[in-house]
Amino acid sequence: MSDRELRVSKIRNGTVVDHITAGQALNVLAILGIDADSGETVSVGMRVPSDRLGSKDIVKVEGRELSQDEVDVLSLIAPAATINIVQDFDVVKKHRVERPSEVVGVLSCPNRHCITTEDEPVESRFDVLDDGIRCTYCDTIVRDSIPEQIDVA
Ligand code: CTP
Ligand code: ZN
Repeated sequence: MSDRELRVSKIRNGTVVDHITAGQALNVLAILGIDADSGETVSVGMRVPSDRLGSKDIVKVEGRELSQDEVDVLSLIAPAATINIVQDFDVVKKHRVERPSEVVGVLSCPNRHCITTEDEPVESRFDVLDDGIRCTYCDTIVRDSIPEQIDVA
């Protein structure tokens, strides 16, 4: 790739979430708890050309690895995403996200009477269905609005 084509610079250490479904980068940032006040160095590419996907989003986070819970939730909105761990400019680990059987934390239950949204120390937990997720505690099903349930706490 020539200098004229470089869109987002390489990172020294951290995580590159590549092949994100076009349009989902901001939701990925929300899943990772990144906003204007989080103080992290982050690069975002939205709708950049991709051989494999036609168009994709990409998020590069300096100096941080992702938790399994974060990757699990990410897989729900970006099923083709690749997680690249970068150390000293080299990709030392690369793997595709996998759809898990359940997701813990990160998302909140839309039912305000659910034990996970009341003032109890109970972490959210959803079973992953073919076409959505179901709260393990109150059976509320979330299908199209998963991004709206990303916890912004
Ligand atoms: N990357 C980065 N900083 C680095 C190394 C890699 O930002 N120091 C980014 C690359 O720009 C690319 C992603 O991490 O978007 C994966 O890098 P690499 O495996 O080198 O690229 P590809 O072989 O094209 O990846 P794939 O086969 O997964 O598409
Ligand atoms: Zn619930």
